[in-house]
Amino acid sequence: MAVNTAFTDACFRRPTDYTPVWFMRQAGRYLPGYKVLRKKHEVLEIAHTPELAATVSLEPVDRLGVDAAILFADIMLVPMAMGVDVKIVDAVGPVIDDPVAGSQAIERLNAIDASDISFLSDTIRLIKQSAKVPLIGFSGAPFTLASYLIEGRPSRTWIKTKRFMYAEPALWHALMDKLTRAIGIYLDEQVHAGVDALQLFDSWVGCLSPADFRQYVLPYNRQIFAQLNKHKVPRIMFGTDTGAMLADIASVDCEVVGVDWRTDIASAQKLLPNKALQGNLDPAVLLSGWPVVETQTKALLDHVPSRTGFIFNLGHGVLPDTSPDTLKGLVDYVHEH
Ligand code: CP3
Repeated sequence: MAVNTAFTDACFRRPTDYTPVWFMRQAGRYLPGYKVLRKKHEVLEIAHTPELAATVSLEPVDRLGVDAAILFADIMLVPMAMGVDVKIVDAVGPVIDDPVAGSQAIERLNAIDASDISFLSDTIRLIKQSAKVPLIGFSGAPFTLASYLIEGRPSRTWIKTKRFMYAEPALWHALMDKLTRAIGIYLDEQVHAGVDALQLFDSWVGCLSPADFRQYVLPYNRQIFAQLNKHKVPRIMFGTDTGAMLADIASVDCEVVGVDWRTDIASAQKLLPNKALQGNLDPAVLLSGWPVVETQTKALLDHVPSRTGFIFNLGHGVLPDTSPDTLKGLVDYVHEH
């Protein structure tokens, strides 16, 4: 299958004919086909059924003309493979009835191997049979996964997580170490199955101070990327609210850094001269009418100092009420501008 390489070329900061674009959470909740499927199947059921997951991954590629596909999965598949009982509750998100509170829960976490995620490898192989664009595999990062394990549900303060990290540093490092190993195996297996790029979602790491990020998180993210170097596929480090951490993120062995709209893209390019950048339109712009989308997109594209090594994306995931037609218009606009 001939693959459009604009996305992977941009990851390696090679010149491309146009600026490639894809959207975080493009394979999900705003898509008509996905909504129909969700009437019959739970999110985790779709993620565990290769034919369904492959269909959802491909829907935005056909409909929007994006330059990359993303695997339909969830960051909580790693803790689930480690033996944690996770439920996805509608309008809430991942819920764990028995959150991690001490050493026993950490000891109980299983190491994983490829056989624990064979369903994911099957999904990847299915997508690769028909995708005409590169396929992005992904995992949650250790901090973001630890935050769900400790909070037991989505949080916007991460107080339990921080208290655990500060008050129980030895346990924190034991937990991060176990997650790091499992994530490494999970991502290795995705490459073996055929993904063309990898993204690590550290969605909530921006809640930490830069010093705490350096001490409690950065060594694990660096370790994950360093051990992925052998695969030669481009690696994307993504987080939100990471503006104050970019000088540290520069030390991560990855090709691409994803930033959200709170970070100025030109300043980010200055701090990260050796990385490609991905971002960073505020997803709320897409709910505000086409003239706003066009003005903001033009302003962003004109503001990026170098379009070589730039991948257009939102600063975070597509919001549920976004119109697929607006996204399609945005893809065309970025390709033409
Ligand atoms: O949004 C991010 O920050 C990306 C990282 C992330 C994913 N899942 C990746 C994902 C995070 C933080 C999660 C946790 C999670 N899982 C949440 C957010 C909860 C919170 O704290 O706000 C939710 C709602 C889930 C459950 C879930 N995962 C649903 C309902 C779906 C399907 C459709 C959708 O988009 O809502 C997923 C799929 C999912 N989670 C994907 C990814 C990369 C695949 C789809 C895609 O990216 O296109």
